Amino acid sequence: MNSHSILTKKTSQLTNIIDDGKQINVSFHYYNRNINSFINSLFSKILSRKNIPFLHSTVTTILRELITNAIKANSKRVYFKSNNLDMFDDKEYNAGMENFKSYIVSNQEEVEEELKKFNLKVTMQINNSERGLKIMIINNVPLHREELSKIQHRIQKAGEFKDFSEVYSEVIDSSEGEGLGIILTMLFLRNSGIGEQSFKISADSEKTYTSLIIPFDLSPVEITSKIQDGIFKEIEELPTFPENILELQKLCKTEDVTLKKISDRISLDPSLSVSVLKLANSAGFLTRNRTEYVIDAIKIIGLKNLEALLITSSARKIMNEKYTVFKKIWDHCNKTSAYARYIAMKFGYAVLSDSAALGGLLHDLGKIILLSANSALSEWISEITRKKELRTSTTLEEVSIGLSHSTIGELIAAKWNLPEYIIESIKNHHSPLNCSAQYREIVYIIYLGNHLCNIEDKVSQYYFIEQEVLDMFKINDEEELMKLHSEIKTMQVIESKYN
Ligand SMILES: [Fe+2]
Ligand SMILES: [Fe+2]
Repeated sequence: MNSHSILTKKTSQLTNIIDDGKQINVSFHYYNRNINSFINSLFSKILSRKNIPFLHSTVTTILRELITNAIKANSKRVYFKSNNLDMFDDKEYNAGMENFKSYIVSNQEEVEEELKKFNLKVTMQINNSERGLKIMIINNVPLHREELSKIQHRIQKAGEFKDFSEVYSEVIDSSEGEGLGIILTMLFLRNSGIGEQSFKISADSEKTYTSLIIPFDLSPVEITSKIQDGIFKEIEELPTFPENILELQKLCKTEDVTLKKISDRISLDPSLSVSVLKLANSAGFLTRNRTEYVIDAIKIIGLKNLEALLITSSARKIMNEKYTVFKKIWDHCNKTSAYARYIAMKFGYAVLSDSAALGGLLHDLGKIILLSANSALSEWISEITRKKELRTSTTLEEVSIGLSHSTIGELIAAKWNLPEYIIESIKNHHSPLNCSAQYREIVYIIYLGNHLCNIEDKVSQYYFIEQEVLDMFKINDEEELMKLHSEIKTMQVIESKYN
């Protein structure tokens, strides 16, 4: 089993423990790539299950900052000890600090050995509390008065900055980039709705404690709540789903329905008839002769495909008429749909393949409204996206709005009275373990299909995937997942030949 497979298993288990109301403790002496991956994986699961996955980069960035600071404080002790300097003597402290920075950079391995030898460690405690997810970083050395006052000063200074652009022009451009971490932490807390007051640092005679509480219900900042209200209003004002489409969809599912009955209904709607004929004559269906009759078209595409066509084209039509057409999102949905269908067929869920494919086609529906609702924030967001070289602005938008695209999508699907399994798939496509038992399989299939697409686009990784989902498909390690992925991609190439 490779290290990613162990990580996936371990972080899923630890998240289950937290969900059971218990506390987990993880200790380490220093920070490295493995620990970084571990924290990324763990918080991807914890935050997804709380339906705040968009806080992932905010929370992991803050934790990375807090943990490396704690390790730095520990390393400082090692350095002072091995140089026979007294940290609590102001004069010796200042003298020691002169050389400490260059020492720690050039003697990393030595520092790590010493940290282990003196058992100077950082412990991360995580548990659910009434106020939210509580994360405590403890290092087993007390803070020096000088250090504590420096930190307090930076926290206070952070409060003076209005936004990121001010920090960038004042701190980054000044020669001393010192303390930027803590200032950014405070701004991240403020802008994400977690709140600056959720962060506390204290020390007793033996240890230093840094705590962070992530509320499950983010308290949106003023601008955020305005945008949230705007989004709810947008959803409210969306046109209702065409009644005839919903009726037709139900008709397709009736047991004793005849093709004639369905085709008669479709023929009443000229634009729908055109769509059905277009699909039947498209390269995806291998027919020798073009058909001009709706009834023949239905025979070619099948009732299940017809249902997907009805729902998807109507949903996309409503969205595309009202908002900018986000081709990238629909392309990603199409791919997720194809992947989900393949997964369902391969792993013995053939009966679910059509429903999973349909869920995949709509799963990121909420992103459209999210991306359209940003006018008030757009300037700020594009600025940060550019400066921080973020891949996509969606996460940042969600952070600043405090609402996930899964929730927005769920609300839209519910407003449109779409089938329950679609609502559930949209709602939980990033938090599969939260779905109701009845729809578990279909949600897991879409979740995995979406993950494979995201891994392909380099916005996700194997060790972010919930272990329970991998277990359902009996995927034991990263190699097996990647094998599945290349299989699907080959299939995609074959299919595209007919397109
Ligand atoms: Fe998504
Ligand atoms: Fe997606």
